[in-house]
Amino acid sequence: AETQFHNFVVQQTPVKRLCKTHNIITVNGQYPGPTIEIKSGDTLIVKVVNKAQYNVTIHWHGVRQMRTGWADGPEFVTQCPIRPGGSYTYRFTIEGQEGTLWWHAHSSWLRATVYGALIIHPKDGSAYPFAKPKTETPILLGEWWDANPIDVINEARRTGGAPNISDAYTINGQPGDLYKCSSQDTVVVPVELGVTNLLRVINSALNQELFFSIANHKMTVVGVDALYTKPFTTSVIMLGPGQTTDVLVNADQPAGRYYMAARAYQSAQNAPFDNTTTTAILQYSSTKNKKASPILPKLPAFNDTQAATTFTTSLRSPRKVDVPTQLDEDLFFTVGLGLNPCPKGQNASQTCQAPNGTRFTASMNNVSFQLPSTFSLLQAHYERATHYERANNVFTTDFPAAPPTKFDYTGNVSRALQTPVQGTKVYKLKYGSKVQVVLQGTSIFTSENHPIHLHGYDFYIVAEGFGNFNAKKHTSQFNLIDPPIRNTVAVPVGGWAVIRFVADNPGVWLMHCHLDVHITWGLAMAFLVEDGVGELQSIEPPPADLPQC
Ligand code: C2O
Repeated sequence: AETQFHNFVVQQTPVKRLCKTHNIITVNGQYPGPTIEIKSGDTLIVKVVNKAQYNVTIHWHGVRQMRTGWADGPEFVTQCPIRPGGSYTYRFTIEGQEGTLWWHAHSSWLRATVYGALIIHPKDGSAYPFAKPKTETPILLGEWWDANPIDVINEARRTGGAPNISDAYTINGQPGDLYKCSSQDTVVVPVELGVTNLLRVINSALNQELFFSIANHKMTVVGVDALYTKPFTTSVIMLGPGQTTDVLVNADQPAGRYYMAARAYQSAQNAPFDNTTTTAILQYSSTKNKKASPILPKLPAFNDTQAATTFTTSLRSPRKVDVPTQLDEDLFFTVGLGLNPCPKGQNASQTCQAPNGTRFTASMNNVSFQLPSTFSLLQAHYERATHYERANNVFTTDFPAAPPTKFDYTGNVSRALQTPVQGTKVYKLKYGSKVQVVLQGTSIFTSENHPIHLHGYDFYIVAEGFGNFNAKKHTSQFNLIDPPIRNTVAVPVGGWAVIRFVADNPGVWLMHCHLDVHITWGLAMAFLVEDGVGELQSIEPPPADLPQC
């Protein structure tokens, strides 16, 4: 195994999109940021130097971080932020994962522009479970605001309403031909007739599930979230923010130019969203007319939940997998929005711009997650374990195993039934315990698809469905043979998903909705996985350069 070193300088960089130049935050002046390519089994050492005016952290989305929680990155969860002028070095080893992951800032809305691909090749001496593709191309789907994204979220925080929607989607940082002032920079992916290409598609958009298709070309799905899947062929894939999908594309069409395109899968009804389409061009090298206008693929309608579900429920592990049975923990978490009453003394027309003079909030089991500010959760946990009393009131361990009241989660209920409480609550898991979590969407304000991401783990998605989860009815339908394994599950709109994992990675691990506006509103919780006994079952001591709050 090898060790790779990288320097990431977080800095302000002028970037022109949609006819206007903005000073955006980048890594090394690149947007999207640098692609890291590594082999499974290798170690990555990345020194992050913060030359920007904002606090920053970098998260290695989907990397298991076995016992190396200090390198995970969510701010105030596993580390305090890197202050302007500061630096921090992330060190971790990639174990047992192959395929496509990515990295992104995990601080406010910085990940709108601070993100890049993390590609994990098979380890030395092993190969892909499919014929080696001739070319490999990361396809990062993003979202662009014709504004400073930090201003956009800060404004929403102030008003209590929903943040402005984005102005474009992007493929590898470029909106593409269908937007103003953009066609000269549309991304072109060259292919050769008859050759198979691997596209590593990553949804790095801030707030939007996306459909992705290529005109006249089928895609063979071979992996998601850096784990192989049983191959199947489709003309459309759907990715929630955080998710990745590896597809093989055979250039088997008449030489020419074909659009690949992404646009919204929007499950919430009557909510404003960015209804534009981003494109890049698949261009055969033997094409004579390099100016010919490409044809567009047929993408599903924005509200085509059937198309989204058909894709996600087609995913399988390649063979029988070791799904935990004999559960130690059987948890039930609601995921959804809520509305908070306008705080007394506030001017409702200015600061309570959610429906009926309220403020938007979001919760799991009616707890709206608040980040600590004096210690990261992991540091507080570590110091408590070593008897430092000063870290004692950073969090509580009373995150509920079930919601406070049962009701029709998919029905339109009065909001008095669920107005969340704020808290920094974690749920404690014994080392090695076998855990099931039912993730149940609610319809307090609206129902929508929530991409729920768990740090530090991959989990089995044993079932998903619409309506209210019913253990009696649904348990017999669980796939305990070959369910897909992921780090982010798209919980269906007005429905539920059931995940399982073994708590074999000690530390503090955030679970949250990967729509950033929802994490801003509190749709998150954290698992505290206790140490076992023995070196390989405990976390390492914090690195000397760990930023302090
Ligand atoms: Cu990709 Cu907590 O995030």
